[in-house]
Amino acid sequence: MSDGLFEELHGVVSVTPSAAELADLEQLLAGAFRPLRGFLGALDVAAVEAGGRLRDGTPWPSAVVLTVPEGVAGEKRIVLQDPETVPLAVLEVSEAWSDPSVPDGHFRVAGTLTALRESAYGAFRRLRRRPPAAGEDAAAVLAVATREPLHRARLGQIRQAAEKLGLPVLVLALLSGVHEQELVRALLAVRRELPEGAEIVTVNLAPRADAVRDQALAAHVAAAYGATHLLTDLPLEDVPLTLVAPEPWAYDTDLEVWRPRARVAEEHVRAELTAEELGALLDRGEEVPEWFTPRAVAAELRKARPPRHERGVTVFFTGLSGSGKSTVARALGDALIERGDRTVSLLDGDVVRQMLSSGLTFSKADRDLNIRRIGYVAAEITRHGGLAICAPIAPYAATRAEVRRMVEAVGDFVLVHVATPLEECERRDRKGLYAKARAGLIPEFTGISDPYETPGDAELVIDTTGRHVSECVDEVLKHLVAGGWLRPQPA
Ligand code: ADX
Repeated sequence: MSDGLFEELHGVVSVTPSAAELADLEQLLAGAFRPLRGFLGALDVAAVEAGGRLRDGTPWPSAVVLTVPEGVAGEKRIVLQDPETVPLAVLEVSEAWSDPSVPDGHFRVAGTLTALRESAYGAFRRLRRRPPAAGEDAAAVLAVATREPLHRARLGQIRQAAEKLGLPVLVLALLSGVHEQELVRALLAVRRELPEGAEIVTVNLAPRADAVRDQALAAHVAAAYGATHLLTDLPLEDVPLTLVAPEPWAYDTDLEVWRPRARVAEEHVRAELTAEELGALLDRGEEVPEWFTPRAVAAELRKARPPRHERGVTVFFTGLSGSGKSTVARALGDALIERGDRTVSLLDGDVVRQMLSSGLTFSKADRDLNIRRIGYVAAEITRHGGLAICAPIAPYAATRAEVRRMVEAVGDFVLVHVATPLEECERRDRKGLYAKARAGLIPEFTGISDPYETPGDAELVIDTTGRHVSECVDEVLKHLVAGGWLRPQPA
């Protein structure tokens, strides 16, 4: 970055885009989203979503957009920075627009970008590569763009296609922020099973909800990386390279090899494991069979999806003050400590407010911040295979959903609604707070003068009215055993 530009940027407002937006930014700046030079405006997005084309008719498969807080949307220039506030690029805003899918108080902004610095983030940086400059002449290449490890069937298909076409292979590992390193290690582990000279490159590419559009976007990226052909099962349209459909492949139980399905006698055909079958196998902690995938890949699969009884899990209690959340949560923690097969961290509402969230009020913004902090810590505990028990009121559904997303990116999430009715909570009034709230001494009191949004997505609903704590704890324990997070205890 020139000193001049740096000076010019004094006073220009900065924004930290989301991880998905930062991934898109990286590809825009690298030229991997050619011909795009910046984030799209309203008309381009509408045209892409309706017909897979930009307004000018150029095929483009998926929206590339940036959302910013309302207060920033009026700016002419915005500095985009990474989560450590290092400036990465300047956006010259050409359009600010609203969209129903954007959260309240936010806008979309479109415009072209000037790069300041490359992001310095991420493991396996040596596997990143910039796409060659546009128009650079290069030899033909067969690409495979994948978010999943390559198992024996796919490896066979790649070898066969590469040999038939006589092309070198480029594997694009599409990183989505979830289990990235397991994917890269699983791909590196099968390097020797790929055709000689095959190259593996990592690309931060935020996943698109639609599988076809996701692979179509990857096809554009692959073309920018110099690929002329793409091996894919999906029927992609208007992509700038030649599609190669892999031949159906099957495991021959007689010869004990993977071969083109057409060459395997019907009675000896063993199909690939489906994603569901594989998931169920991993959840139960069973071996992934060698005929399906090499052992080193299986080891990475297990790391990304450990057996349920070793996988991190957050048990998140939500409910009114006085509903019994804390009591049940604490007793659950004790029961788990007595069992001794799980490491437990308890994030109780009132305790968190003395430590992690001291100073926060009970305004909506502060409650949301409180819950996000709890969610952040719970997700870290979960990532490391622990069991986090949270017990805040957490009155807002959207914030609970946000925590669920954070946790489920790294493990499992069990929402327990402690649904003790308000009348019962008020009757107990252990802390005398309901009386004060009724008297108007505590403003914004949940259930009295502040909302509680009843969960529609709870895995377990418990009304503690007239029940002993141990009964409620048993119910939660039973759920955790049934789900596989705890092993059944010998009688
Ligand atoms: S949350 O809304 O942010 O999830 P949290 O669980 O941390 O709430 O704190 C709730 C506890 O704070 C209650 O159990 C009660 O003891 C106390 N409290 C004090 N003021 C309020 C209020 N206005 N609304 C709810 N709880 C309050």
